[in-house]
Amino acid sequence: MSDVIVRGRDFTAYRIGGAIAAALLFAALLWQTYEIFDGDAMTVPETSWTAVNDGEGSGENAVLADDILVARTRLLDERFKTGPSPEEPGFAAQAGQTLVEEPIDGYSKALPEAWMTGDAEMLRMLRPGQRTEGLSSLPYVNAALFERPEGRDWRLGMADFITHLGALVILGFAFLLALLLAIRGRVPIAEGRARTKVKRFGFLERATHWMTATSFIGLALTGIVIAYGETLILPFGGDLLGQAGWIATWGHAVCFPPFAFGILIMGIMWVGRNIPDRLDWIWLKNGGGLFSDEGPNPPAKKFNAGQKLIFWSAMLGGILMVGTGVMLMFPFFFLGLEAQAWVMLGHATVATFLIAIFIGHIYIGTVGMQGAIDAMWSGRVDRNWAKEHHELWLKDIEKEETAR
Ligand code: HEM
Repeated sequence: MSDVIVRGRDFTAYRIGGAIAAALLFAALLWQTYEIFDGDAMTVPETSWTAVNDGEGSGENAVLADDILVARTRLLDERFKTGPSPEEPGFAAQAGQTLVEEPIDGYSKALPEAWMTGDAEMLRMLRPGQRTEGLSSLPYVNAALFERPEGRDWRLGMADFITHLGALVILGFAFLLALLLAIRGRVPIAEGRARTKVKRFGFLERATHWMTATSFIGLALTGIVIAYGETLILPFGGDLLGQAGWIATWGHAVCFPPFAFGILIMGIMWVGRNIPDRLDWIWLKNGGGLFSDEGPNPPAKKFNAGQKLIFWSAMLGGILMVGTGVMLMFPFFFLGLEAQAWVMLGHATVATFLIAIFIGHIYIGTVGMQGAIDAMWSGRVDRNWAKEHHELWLKDIEKEETAR
C-alpha cells in the first residue's frame, strides 16, 4: 500500500473531525456573543433587604429610604449605569432608619463575622466605603465592596465584559484552527516517512517541556474553573461548583511552581537558538508553508519563526503571569485596591492570549502536522520531516554525522 493512500485515508478522518469541532465551536461563539448583549451581568450578588421604621422616623422617611435602597439594589442588576451621586441631597439614609439585613439562603451570619477577623489591612479593605456607608443592601461586608465605585467598575469590566471577551478570543482562535483542519487537512510529510530517524531533543529538554506543559494545562484548566465556573459548572449543581472551586484554587497554586521553574529552564536551554534572524522574515512571509502543500517549505534552522514566536510567548507571557500571580497570591501586600484590580485584569488578559497561543501550539504539535509529536515524545524525528521543516538544521546534523 502506498503512502499516498494511507495519508489520503488519514486526512479524511482529520478533516471530518475538524469540521465537527468547527461547528461546535461556532455554536459556542454564538452563545458567548449573545451573553455579552443579553443585558444581565455575570456577577450579580443575590440578596434581599428590608427597611423598617424603628418608630422614630416618619412614614415619609421610611418611603424615602425604601426608594434609595430599591434604586441601589437595581444598580447591582443593571450594567452600564452609574447610580445617583451620594452627594445628592436625600441620598444618605434618613435618621431613625434601621436596615435589617437578610442573609442569602444557606449563608450564616457567622461567616462574615469570621471573615472580619483578618489583619488590619484586610479590615480596612473590607470596610464599606464612606460614599455608601449605611446603604449597602448586601448581607456581608466584603460583598459590599462590589457596591463601591471601584468595586462596581471591577464587576462590570473585569468580572463581566472581559470574561466574555476572553471566552470569545479562546473559542474564536480554536474555531479558526478547526476550520483550517477541515479545509486544509493535516500537514503531511510530503515525501512520506523515510523510516530513518534523527535525534532532535534530549531527555532534559523533553522532561522540562512536559513538566512546563502539564503545569500550564493545569493552570489553564483551574483558571478557567475560577473564571467561568459559574457558567460551566453551576448548572450541574452548587455543591459541584463548591468542590471544583476548592480544587481549582489549590490546584492553581500547586501548578504554579513547576510552571515557573520550567519557564526558567526552557529559557536557559533554548534562548540561544531563538534569537530572530533574516530567515525568520522569509519564513513568515511564506506563512511557514502551513497553508499550502505546493513547493518546498521556507528553509529553517532548529527553530523556525513560528516556533520562536511560541518560545518568546512562553517566556514573556510566563514572566508576566508569574509576576502578576505572586501579587494576587498576597492580596494588598504589595498593592492598593486599584492597582490590585489592574493586576487582576492583566493576569486574566495575558492568560487568555497564552491559552489561545498554546492551543495553536498543541494543534500543530499533534493533529495539525504529521510527524511533529515524535520530536517531543521519543526525541527522534523522521529524516524526511526534518528535511521538509528544518532543512538547514538537518544539513548541520548530517555534516556532524559524516565528520564522525
Ligand atoms: C499537550 C500539550 C503540548 C504538546 C503536544 C506539545 C508539543 C510540542 C512539540 C511536538 C514540540 C517540538 C516541535 C519541534 O520539533 O520543534 C514542542 C516544542 C515546544 N513547546 Fe510544546 N507542546 C505542548 C504544550 C506546551 C506548553 C503548554 C508550552 C509552554 C507553556 C510549550 C512550550 C514549548 C516550547 C517553548 C517549544 C519549543 C519551541 C517550539 O518548538 O515551538 N509546549 N511542543
